[in-house]
Amino acid sequence: VDNVVEEQKYYPQLDEASALLRAGEAIAFPTETVYGLGANALSSAAVKRIFEAKGRPSDNPLIVHIADQQAVHQLVRSIPEKAQRLMDAFWPGPLTLIFPKKEGIAAEVTAGLDSVGIRMPDHPLALALIRATGLPLAAPSANRSGRPSPTTAAHVEEDLQGKIAGIVDGGATGVGVESTVLDVTLDPPMILRPGGVTKEALERVVGKVAVDPAVTMQADEQPRAPGMKYQHYAPQAEMWTVDAPSVEAQTALIRERIGQARRSLGDESQEGSHRELKIGVLATTETQAEYAGIADYVAVCGSRHDLASVARGLYDALRSFDQQQVEFILAESFPTTGVGAAIMNRLNKAAGNQVIRA
Ligand code: TXA
Ligand code: MG
Repeated sequence: VDNVVEEQKYYPQLDEASALLRAGEAIAFPTETVYGLGANALSSAAVKRIFEAKGRPSDNPLIVHIADQQAVHQLVRSIPEKAQRLMDAFWPGPLTLIFPKKEGIAAEVTAGLDSVGIRMPDHPLALALIRATGLPLAAPSANRSGRPSPTTAAHVEEDLQGKIAGIVDGGATGVGVESTVLDVTLDPPMILRPGGVTKEALERVVGKVAVDPAVTMQADEQPRAPGMKYQHYAPQAEMWTVDAPSVEAQTALIRERIGQARRSLGDESQEGSHRELKIGVLATTETQAEYAGIADYVAVCGSRHDLASVARGLYDALRSFDQQQVEFILAESFPTTGVGAAIMNRLNKAAGNQVIRA
């Protein structure tokens, strides 16, 4: 009976969740991208709970979530004209804008920066919760720091059970990758993190948009979004992305590499250290059959004909490798157009930027 009571506490109704937030607790809630771990953005003590629960480095700033555009005026010193057009076009939605910040936001939210990231999530429960509290909510993704972001309440529970006051359960999230982070204090505006709103869509509204060179990981440069410098979204296994000119060439390369890995372990075991490596492949509905009987575990993230489905299924697939205790992962690559830019950014980060090329 005690268990049942505990469970109800853990999945509070909206009014109870908003009371807990107003009392300074941290509560997980669904957004259209991933689950967030929210707390009162105006209270240092409340925001510190987020950092503690996640084990998040204190130099990594949080996004502030609001439920109507007017709330921006209380949080920022100025609204660039392009920012206004972007808010009108994409809010509510998966776009975080970086503004010059006003006093009043807890210093911990912005990690000492003079700017603040703000977004209006496109999810009825998130909007209702923000409205019910009457507060701006600071909310990073509700995962333990370094883990793939949560796209279900069960993922949040996996990472944060016992560390937070509750989870508002809204089922699986729709977009599956985080919001696009766009610095509108620069002109042209600069993408610091690719996400749910594509570069192509932004450019249709404000013309040229730059991309932080650190996003594609080809540069040695320090990323401008502090959070982008950490290894992220990562399963426990050693992971590589596999890049080749065609899907057929990719699947062939993955099959070949699995064979190589097994042979080199076979050689080792002749020297006495017999061991089997559990090998996993991140695949798609179109390619999964290629690895049957070759890989030990195949995670399907979505369909190649629908990159949005890949974004939606990506983090659950990455988490499943840990559940299956996979030790070595080879991941297929995707085109970097549209939401593919966000997918490849997350995959490269999960792989610590290790790429096998044809
Ligand atoms: O979709 C999302 O954005 C989710 C949901 C919950 O809203 N939130 C999320 O938050 O992904 P988080 O904390 O996991 O990622 C926030 C990113 C980090 O890379 C952080 O460094 C960057 O935004 N960021 C936040 N404030 C910033 C600022 N003032 N300047 C530059 N980057 C900032
Ligand atoms: Mg995160």
